[in-house]
Amino acid sequence: MKVSPSILACDFTKLKEEIMSVSNADFLHLDVMDGIFVPNITFGPVIVDSINRLTQIQLESHLMIIDAYKYVDAFADAGSDFIVFHVESRSDIIKTIKKIKSRGIKAGLALNPDTPLRSLLPYFESIDLVLVMTVNPGFYGQKFMPQVLPKLEKLKEIKETKKYNFLIEVDGGIDAETAKLVAPYVDIIASGAFIFSSQNRIDRIDYLKKLSSKSII
Ligand code: DX5
Ligand code: ZN
Repeated sequence: MKVSPSILACDFTKLKEEIMSVSNADFLHLDVMDGIFVPNITFGPVIVDSINRLTQIQLESHLMIIDAYKYVDAFADAGSDFIVFHVESRSDIIKTIKKIKSRGIKAGLALNPDTPLRSLLPYFESIDLVLVMTVNPGFYGQKFMPQVLPKLEKLKEIKETKKYNFLIEVDGGIDAETAKLVAPYVDIIASGAFIFSSQNRIDRIDYLKKLSSKSII
């Protein structure tokens, strides 16, 4: 299992130390919100660029913004290794995927809890990652929505039967218990409050890393 701490849950008054405190992470999950696609506003490419200067860990920018296409270059220039945007956004999906890839970085599509898997069908061949939301996007520290589990299971089944290459990531409300529920279906776990609310972040990340994402077929 790969682990991607969501820095939205960190203490921004000491961003550098917070990033150093999750040094065993595989990725850093950077939640970008525009106050339109979601009710909250967070940070943009300036902060992503600063984080990029602080660490060698790969950065995934999770864009919860209405017009992802417009900002691909800004987040690519800021050092994102993955740009993940929402299938529910107003962006032209194919055009946006192509633009992300033209910058030599990985493209991911995110899916809200109420959005059916079929909305991703036209894009499975073209993407590197599917981010399945297990909370409605907007805030860290929300409660995991177990009703998303059948969707995760189905996604893994489609991936294995059709031999797609995309990674599966889950995001929202993951803790020691909910992680066990999603582990069979996912390659990457994003987690904010569970990791950053602890003084033992290295141990919490190691705990998540040890969960296996075994094949279900
Ligand atoms: C929700 C964000 C998530 C969130 C994860 O809008 O996309 O990445 O920060 O934090 P937890 O794990 O606390 O739900
Ligand atoms: Zn996120």
